[in-house]
Amino acid sequence: MSKTSLITGGAGFIGSHLTEKLISQGERVIIVDDLSTGDAKNLAKVIDDERLEYIEGSIDDESLVEDVVSRADRVYHLAAAVGVALIAKQPIQTIERNVYPTQLILNQLGKRLEKGDSVPCFFASTSEVYGKNPKEVWCEEDDLVFGATTKPRWSYGVSKAIDEFLALAFFKERELPVVVGRFFNVVGPRQTGAYGMVLPRFVQAALDNRPLVVHDDGKQARCFAHVDDVIEAIVTLAETQEAFGRVFNIGSDQDITILELAKRVIERVGSSSTIEYQSYAQAYDESFEDIRRRVPDLSRIQQTIGFRAKKDLNAIIDSVAQYLRS
Ligand SMILES: NC(=O)c1ccc[n+]([C@@H]2O[C@H](COP(=O)([O-])OP(=O)(O)OC[C@H]3O[C@@H](n4cnc5c(N)ncnc54)[C@H](O)[C@@H]3O)[C@@H](O)[C@H]2O)c1
Repeated sequence: MSKTSLITGGAGFIGSHLTEKLISQGERVIIVDDLSTGDAKNLAKVIDDERLEYIEGSIDDESLVEDVVSRADRVYHLAAAVGVALIAKQPIQTIERNVYPTQLILNQLGKRLEKGDSVPCFFASTSEVYGKNPKEVWCEEDDLVFGATTKPRWSYGVSKAIDEFLALAFFKERELPVVVGRFFNVVGPRQTGAYGMVLPRFVQAALDNRPLVVHDDGKQARCFAHVDDVIEAIVTLAETQEAFGRVFNIGSDQDITILELAKRVIERVGSSSTIEYQSYAQAYDESFEDIRRRVPDLSRIQQTIGFRAKKDLNAIIDSVAQYLRS
């Protein structure tokens, strides 16, 4: 019998690529997605494959979680409230979506463990857990530095940090094989710009010859990794015994400012777009605080699984442009 993986949020951007990868390896995949930010069209290439079971439902449904976890040999927990724009607007939903379902899944995995079934779980976390730590480069043991609770944008990072604490506690207290991956700006085909993601927003504007809107002064530094590289890391980490009970930065460590990114996108796409600036207050609200620099130290993941992002920024922009053109 081939292995069965459960992917929560499998109709999302990263989840749909992970689904394709596992199915291409001969695995069976169960997806649970409520389509809150995902899209069933993301699964077009695999939807008719008999190895895929796609369930439109929410992972805050306890009986559904019990059923799907009971049938899985491996769990990839990707479902969450995502996107800075969405989170700044809907903090209640962010906290509820990101905390309660993780607890449900871990509890069910704990029950499997009591029956002797040790089911590995990959948990998708985020570079947002570092908050506004002022270090140039962030490594996994660094402090989490959040802003005030009156600023809702921090609720995303804090809610993911709670999930990390819980996942690591299940490893420590019960030996549940859990691995935490902190993603740093994952990009590629199927990512939507609708929830504030910068690269699809820029590429779409450039293709339409509309102005690219840069927030603040554009000097914020970010690192972009192609989803294909990230999927390799996720799958390998979930299969690596040495990774369990640990946290890993996942992404690229090649930083670029958002202004340079806007210029590069215009050049690669061959667009006549101009660049316009918008304050954070206009883009989000008066309370919005951003992170100036977000660069991962990748030593741990390189040493543990030999990870290195292969696709550079030009290849990434070209793949997003090709997807949006089609
Ligand atoms: N894309 C990035 O750069 C990035 C960076 C850091 C962390 N992450 C994390 O990676 C994961 C996947 O993100 P993504 O970029 O693919 O975003 P996405 O919005 O495309 O995927 C999230 C999916 O989860 C689904 N979902 C949300 N709540 C659900 C619920 N209660 N029940 C069932 N399905 C639900 C959504 O419909 C969506 O399909 C998330 O956990 C996110 O926090 C992504």
